[in-house]
Amino acid sequence: MDYTFSEFCTDCVKALKADSGEAGCKEIQKYFDKILAHPEFVTEILGESPEPGRHIIHHDKETDLYVLAHVYDRAGHAAPHDHGPFWVIYGNATGYTDMTEYRRLDDGSKEGYAELEVSSEYRIEAGMSSIYDVGDIHAIDYPENTTFIRLVSGDAERGKNLRFDMANNTVEVQDRAKEKRIVSSV
Ligand SMILES: [Fe+2]
Repeated sequence: MDYTFSEFCTDCVKALKADSGEAGCKEIQKYFDKILAHPEFVTEILGESPEPGRHIIHHDKETDLYVLAHVYDRAGHAAPHDHGPFWVIYGNATGYTDMTEYRRLDDGSKEGYAELEVSSEYRIEAGMSSIYDVGDIHAIDYPENTTFIRLVSGDAERGKNLRFDMANNTVEVQDRAKEKRIVSSV
């Protein structure tokens, strides 16, 4: 393996210390694509048969960067949501993720109401990644035996974010701290 997970983490921290905003995020996507070309890093960290679910595989205290591995043996999906005050980079180690991105049409002034329209649909294949900036809204759909990795600019698993119901034009604040979402943590 000519690029290790530990080198990847070091590169990310260096990049985020130089620029914790958009430029830093774009810079770490380059390293992300490099490590995704070596998906065996997931097995090296979590073993051959990790428990399905979300695993925090790295957290850097200084920059607050989180790296999560989402290991799924069954197909699944997540309704349209944002990531609160954080940006997120999604990338697939195995399987694929079908992404739908949305544009919000209302101005957010009516509590609990939201109108969305689909702005793009595409598939992230194994080895590929995509950036979701603060406020971006997306939904995901993945087949069985999929492992995707997320790089998050903070602890999105314990923060608040918005979850949308497109069929009913509703939105609610989701308090992720109230759910048991993490299977294992470094
Ligand atoms: Fe997401």
